[in-house]
Amino acid sequence: MQSNRRTAIQGAAALTLAVTMPLAFGQKKITLGFSQIGAESEWRTANTESVKSAAKEAGIDLKFADAQQKQENQIKAIRSFIAQKVDVIAFSPVVETGFETVLKEAKAAKIPVILTDRAVSTKDDSLYVTFMGSDFLEEGRKAGRWLVEKMKDNKGEVNIVELQGTVGSAPAIDRKKGFEEVIKADPKFKILRSQTGDFTRAKGKEVMQAFLKSDAKKINVLYAHNDDMAIGAIQAIEEAGLKPAKDIIIISIDAVKGAFEAMMQGKLNVSVECSPLLGPQLMKAVKEVVAGKPVPKRIVTEEGIFPMEVAAKEFPKRKY
Ligand code: AHR
Repeated sequence: MQSNRRTAIQGAAALTLAVTMPLAFGQKKITLGFSQIGAESEWRTANTESVKSAAKEAGIDLKFADAQQKQENQIKAIRSFIAQKVDVIAFSPVVETGFETVLKEAKAAKIPVILTDRAVSTKDDSLYVTFMGSDFLEEGRKAGRWLVEKMKDNKGEVNIVELQGTVGSAPAIDRKKGFEEVIKADPKFKILRSQTGDFTRAKGKEVMQAFLKSDAKKINVLYAHNDDMAIGAIQAIEEAGLKPAKDIIIISIDAVKGAFEAMMQGKLNVSVECSPLLGPQLMKAVKEVVAGKPVPKRIVTEEGIFPMEVAAKEFPKRKY
């Protein structure tokens, strides 16, 4: 009896210690203010989930704010995190410019800022500690290289329509640039039309409908800056009586499960990977920053590319 009781008490003590481990020896729980862009895509939903679950796992107190795709909401959220004196601020900037003032306010309050997923364009890189996320330029290049290879035996013109991401956002700017950099080597590639679909399915569909209305017969290729817009565009293509991935070659970015499903149905040719699973990396950096340890200024996510031919084999391994 006695020894059973002792074991139970020891067990309970060990459990208490294990749960409170990160707070042991008078350490205070870290508070992280995170301003998310919104919920515009399957990618974003997976990213939010990754951040929330990683914070829980790491024992970090997460203050989460959804900006609903509006920069002013992000600025407000960051100001509120400063007022609440959080330990670290992290955010995924909806657009590249216009954040300098609020970043200076965070710096003056001595609150370190971590950029995740998207970058800001600033000459003063002391305004943030690190930027972790994908290389969007390289994603655009991968999309371009895939197309060049696919069309290598095609002698005629290749007419492309492009669905851009949110105007002024880092992925929209860089994915366009990287893609153009590669295809410009051969004059047969022509971008017929290029317009924003704001990274959403609904907009992707609407803009593709407009492209098809004016140029249905000419379009050979659709390059979409994310899978959601490509999926919306696939609906528009089918409704116009055309066969996606056959009459119009479709290239997109993210490699979310929805894209794999479209590839397995033979409706999408290829998706370039952009991983949203940044949560664990972010929590690791938050802890290092609070502990005063150095973190690299740029942490690049490693990513692949998935053509439809490998979709069924890869699908069971996909985590988002
Ligand atoms: O910033 C990453 C991009 O934002 C993803 O490619 C897109 O799907 C998301 O909304």
